[in-house]
Amino acid sequence: MSGSGKRPLRLGMIGCGQISTRFFNQAEALNALGWDVRFVATCARTEASASAKAAERNCARWYTDHRQLLADPDVDAVVIATPHALHASQGTDAANAGKHMLVEKPLTTKWDDAVSLQSAVAASGVTCMALPFVDTPALLKALEYANEAYLGRITGIEAELSFAGPPRSNWYYDASAEGGAMMDTMVYPLARVAALMGPASRLTARVNTLIPHRLTGDGGRVESQVDDQVSVLLEYEGGQHGNVHSIWTRSYMTNGTVLHGRHGAIFLGRYGQPLVIKSDRQAPPDGTAVEYLGIPNCYTVPVPAADVTGEILAHFVRAIRGEAPLHCGLDIGMHIAEQQMAAYESARTGRAIDLKTRFDLWWPREASAMTLSDGWH
Ligand SMILES: NC(=O)c1ccc[n+]([C@@H]2O[C@H](COP(=O)([O-])OP(=O)(O)OC[C@H]3O[C@@H](n4cnc5c(N)ncnc54)[C@H](OP(=O)(O)O)[C@@H]3O)[C@@H](O)[C@H]2O)c1
Repeated sequence: MSGSGKRPLRLGMIGCGQISTRFFNQAEALNALGWDVRFVATCARTEASASAKAAERNCARWYTDHRQLLADPDVDAVVIATPHALHASQGTDAANAGKHMLVEKPLTTKWDDAVSLQSAVAASGVTCMALPFVDTPALLKALEYANEAYLGRITGIEAELSFAGPPRSNWYYDASAEGGAMMDTMVYPLARVAALMGPASRLTARVNTLIPHRLTGDGGRVESQVDDQVSVLLEYEGGQHGNVHSIWTRSYMTNGTVLHGRHGAIFLGRYGQPLVIKSDRQAPPDGTAVEYLGIPNCYTVPVPAADVTGEILAHFVRAIRGEAPLHCGLDIGMHIAEQQMAAYESARTGRAIDLKTRFDLWWPREASAMTLSDGWH
């Protein structure tokens, strides 16, 4: 079994709020499978929160200063799940302390902080995993069809994560979060688009706050200080466009992606289906023809069930143990962060912004996939 029988991995949790539960639960599930990975220390802003979480999750120690946790010799790696604006600087401290890190999204709210993090990680050689992790069973399955045999050449992409807005009337709407939809939810469609398309070369964006006086899902009222409407147009070296948005004004949630080819398309998480392949060239061998949005030649394909050994923490542990390469390392994280910063700049100036960072796709895409100018298509 991958991940088991290796040296123990001792984790520290920095930030003990809502999302920390996911990582504690995954560690406990992996441990039950013999992976020998567990949390031993917690850190939160308040003593009450850090100590309560330590007690709840059987951690021996708790702190209210992340630097004290990072100085703990029993901690090999940390999960950083604090408010957005703290991620990169706490990550830099983790790298300087020689701790591997799993950084919650967004990687950063300030470009300079991301550059400092990148330098510290490069100097220390620790593993830095930057969420979002987009390797869902549906996306991994989709990659089997992301080729010319099903789609023809790639012609563009669209993606979004839109919903009513964060349900809690807390810091997510405060200026201290240093961004709203751009920082909190736009990272998900941007990450899926980056994973499927590779690096973009240019970007244009619109960003605003449509609902300043907001009713929230918990029954609260907030004077929102953050953006809630983000629309980005990405451009690729092959000339394709990517239309990506995250909007907090909807009455329902949509969290989907469509990868377009000249002769087909892949619909991921769109209109009630986890994965639909549209191909004018051939039916997937495991596909079932389906009526879908009135579009011809659509097939559903079986998506494997989610399994904790394929989820975030397992990916992080495998990377630390040298068993598998990281799919969301700092190279792609920096590109997504650059897109977020460029989107704010584009919205502010009205200009298109050239993107400088690059990364390599981790999956084997055909060399010709993004070229439309070499023949008849
Ligand atoms: N909630 C989600 O569904 C979700 C999903 C994916 C990703 N995320 C990301 O995860 C991060 C955390 O989100 P959340 O919803 O879990 O937030 P949250 O519930 O507000 O929890 C934030 C935690 O960070 C702690 N904290 C604040 N300042 C700190 C500091 N200087 N040092 C150490 N700890 C500090 C808080 O301590 P106290 O408890 O003492 O206040 C709290 O435990 C966000 O960046 C978010 O984008 C959240």
